Amino acid sequence: MASVPRLSDWSPDSWQRKTSLQQPVYRDPAALARAVTALARLPPIVVSYEVDELHRHLASAQRGEAFILQGGNCAESLDDCSSERIVEQLKILLQMSLVLVHGLKKPIVRLGRMAGQYAKPRSTDTETRDGVTLPSYRGDIVNRAPFDAISREPDPELLLRGYERAALTLNFVRALIDGGFADLHHPEAWDLEFMRHSPKYEEYKRIVESLGDSLNFFESITGRPVHDSQRVDFYASHEGLHLLYEQAQTRFIPRRGRWYNLSTHLPWIGVRTAGLNDGHVEYFRGIVNPIAVKVGPSSDAAYLRELTRVLNPEATPGRLTLIHRLGAANIEAKLPPLIEAVRAAGAEVVWVCDPMHGNTETTSLGVKTRRFDAILFELETAFKIHAEMGSTLGGVHLEMTGDNVTECTGGARGLSDGDLARAYRSTVDPRLNYEQALEVAMRISRHAEHARRR
Ligand code: PEP
Ligand code: CO
Repeated sequence: MASVPRLSDWSPDSWQRKTSLQQPVYRDPAALARAVTALARLPPIVVSYEVDELHRHLASAQRGEAFILQGGNCAESLDDCSSERIVEQLKILLQMSLVLVHGLKKPIVRLGRMAGQYAKPRSTDTETRDGVTLPSYRGDIVNRAPFDAISREPDPELLLRGYERAALTLNFVRALIDGGFADLHHPEAWDLEFMRHSPKYEEYKRIVESLGDSLNFFESITGRPVHDSQRVDFYASHEGLHLLYEQAQTRFIPRRGRWYNLSTHLPWIGVRTAGLNDGHVEYFRGIVNPIAVKVGPSSDAAYLRELTRVLNPEATPGRLTLIHRLGAANIEAKLPPLIEAVRAAGAEVVWVCDPMHGNTETTSLGVKTRRFDAILFELETAFKIHAEMGSTLGGVHLEMTGDNVTECTGGARGLSDGDLARAYRSTVDPRLNYEQALEVAMRISRHAEHARRR
């Protein structure tokens, strides 16, 4: 997957000569340096072979031959690094991918927002409550969420705690998958306790049964188990926001003659830190991993032309994913010019729709939420626009959990603003719960089935 030419004017720390937004301010630079040195000495979480393999899958998604399901928490929490929470997250991603395979009839690239999704951009540096002003919460790798001076002080040791939790998380996911948990012959292992009461359970069951029939059919005509030929793969991704963390795990791989970020398979740049002259773009241009950038309603043609040129100068398929997060109100006006601009630049990108981040609202009680209908509208409109323009929507990016939370309103159970208080656990953005996430997968599948019939 040779894609990024070796850059003579780049090094893992060259971003430090630029302005980097959203970086925490630590009180003790010596303690920070010690933590970063310790982090750089630890073994990587992923290896370059896997990163290259994901790159090939993303190139298939770009050609429309595979579909990316990227999902997980807005922010992982150190306390939620437990077997239950990891299994729940894996279960819902596997179930959704089963539904998507059924409807889309193509391989699904499973990409968790996990094993490192610990650093968060914030709209303000400080937060004031009852006259007290403290640093904003920036994710568990930086500081802690409770509103007190000790919790909110950025602590360099948390870089190590986050990295260790990321490794524990991916280790457990890998063991589950290699041990047969993801075996398509036993999808009953992914059932979540409360799902039998779900209004969507019957539909899901029908899909599982029909897939089981296809699997049996395939195996009887080929005379061999499907699992011999197709390992279910699973990749990790996170927002590469905290540049010292990313830099510490950036390794030169002599076999490839390239620099890899081995803290994750696919790091992405968030919408707030993707300025052309910013430290993030500088860091990302030099690593050979497949990378993604979020694009919002204010991204214009000139910006996209330059961004794609800097981050994917050789126009290598699968190298650069653009995740558009425009909002239900903007997508019809804003997406066509973005697609046009990328096309006019001759750039090669994978398009992914994030229908979450352009649809965040605050209720009258001050609770952050998202309406299920707005999420679905943005997603379905994205499919429609890409198809009309002869482009390919290669995947979807969701904030979701296998947990039974009440953070987004709507969905089959019709959650209202009043339900939000019942089980709101996210420390940052509201996530789709198990049922809503499965419903999104079903709607995408149905959409694809209709499109095939047209
Ligand atoms: C996120 O993905 O949690 C996020 C902050 O997204 P964006 O950069 O699109 O706002
Ligand atoms: Co978010």
